[in-house]
Amino acid sequence: MSTWNAAKALEAFGLSASEVNPGVFDGKEWKASGDVHEALNPSTGEVLAKVQFGTKDDYERCAANAVAAQKEWQLMPAPQRGEIVRQIGNALIEKRDAMGALLSLEMGKIHAEGKGEVQEFIDICFIACGLSRSIPGQVVPSERTEHALMEIWKPLGTLGIITAFNFPHAVWGWNAAVSLVCGNTQLVKGAESASLVTIATQKVVSDVLKANGVDGGVAVLCQGEGPVVGDAMCRDPRIDLLSFTGSTKTGKIAQRLVHERSGQTVMELGGNNAILVMPSADIELALRSCVFAAAGTCGQRCTSLRRLLVHEDVYDELKPRLVEAYKKLPYGNPLHPKTLVGPIHNKAGIELFERTVQDAQSQGGKVLVGGGRPDASELPSEDLANGNFVQPTIVEIDPHADIVQEERFVPVLYLCKVKSFEEGIAINNQVEQGLSAALFSTDMREVFAWLGPAGAKQGVVNANTSCSGAECGLAFGGNGSTGWGRECGSDSWKQYMRRSSCAINFGKTLPLAQGIDFS
Ligand code: UN1
Repeated sequence: MSTWNAAKALEAFGLSASEVNPGVFDGKEWKASGDVHEALNPSTGEVLAKVQFGTKDDYERCAANAVAAQKEWQLMPAPQRGEIVRQIGNALIEKRDAMGALLSLEMGKIHAEGKGEVQEFIDICFIACGLSRSIPGQVVPSERTEHALMEIWKPLGTLGIITAFNFPHAVWGWNAAVSLVCGNTQLVKGAESASLVTIATQKVVSDVLKANGVDGGVAVLCQGEGPVVGDAMCRDPRIDLLSFTGSTKTGKIAQRLVHERSGQTVMELGGNNAILVMPSADIELALRSCVFAAAGTCGQRCTSLRRLLVHEDVYDELKPRLVEAYKKLPYGNPLHPKTLVGPIHNKAGIELFERTVQDAQSQGGKVLVGGGRPDASELPSEDLANGNFVQPTIVEIDPHADIVQEERFVPVLYLCKVKSFEEGIAINNQVEQGLSAALFSTDMREVFAWLGPAGAKQGVVNANTSCSGAECGLAFGGNGSTGWGRECGSDSWKQYMRRSSCAINFGKTLPLAQGIDFS
């Protein structure tokens, strides 16, 4: 049995189970004046704690302090900022188990995945620390005599971060670690139903800033509702860049509001990801990857597998094995070490799950396994009877059915037969979203065709491994209606900086560009 429970996880972050926890840190104090919300445990339906949200006035205070703090923060040498971010990574190592447990309790993911999410924050802190000593710029040859051309990268200003319930901790980290090193301050609004994790993360970050004598306004939190705090962030010209993770529907509204005021966005929206399995595939690998990608996190990753496209030559081999593996998936308390599938995050998710199964059936789909809610006798303990448990489900369906083109954030996997590699690529690419995709094939020509220009169109394109579980060393993000944003490693840092293109004359004459004579 796990040694973690709600009381212990809350205590690890100084959160109260009985008193109301303020959801706003303005850089100086914890003080909120909005509505009080209950943080629920999706496994049991119990109230974990209460959180007071921020109002428009709370937001104003937070934004003003974050903008003011940037004046000094931008002047601190980048390696010193990197050192502070490294310390945030170290502080999270200390809190990894506790934060992972809080994620299990509030989001519902299993503890191994909760700790994995914290690990992603830790890793990006260390990547960002390295970057702080190596943010590049470049010098290019000038056509003019005694001139130098160079690019200088400077902080953007203040970053707004809006996180989603499925990765409320890691999304914060993927943005914050790099952005802080780049010299920006930040204002976070976490997913409403992941308020405890959001507050706990803020506390870890704020404690490190405080220990370094840094203005708390460098990282502020205004936890609150989308229409109140989220809307204010979108409209506020002081938020130079808004990084939004969430649904395509809300993301498109946010994007329009920010672009209307000429602000910048990093959008990480819906995925609708596919895996294509070809006859030469290592079926064992494909099978394990598909089960993890589709049923892991109860189907609630942006990178979750939704569409499994299997070549007709191996279809009859893979299908029964996949169904068998699904039947054995242990679901239950996400803190229990043997559990692989926890609950769906909220009650709306259950309703969406049930509707999705019905809609798929009405569009010709056939349920192969799952399809409903487990009855109480199937759950490992009685306290889970009010939890949001649903059965991971596989529906065999035509890949052109309308429902397959949509992303629904529930553990329903569409199994589809394809006749050729080319057809598989076409189906993979036919949806409007473009986050991640994977091919299983040991044919080198197929692998490179898949990665190449006429292959998969997604932002994350894998071969012989899952479409979910990306590492943060590479840029993470998608194309099309996924939103074109990129976070994490590689050159994603560029989004958090502004570029100056500079021409410097170190001579005593004034040659003009393009050889223009203006005398
Ligand atoms: C998300 O679901 O929002 O590749 C992102 C993965 C994680 C990121 C998921 N590193 O599954």
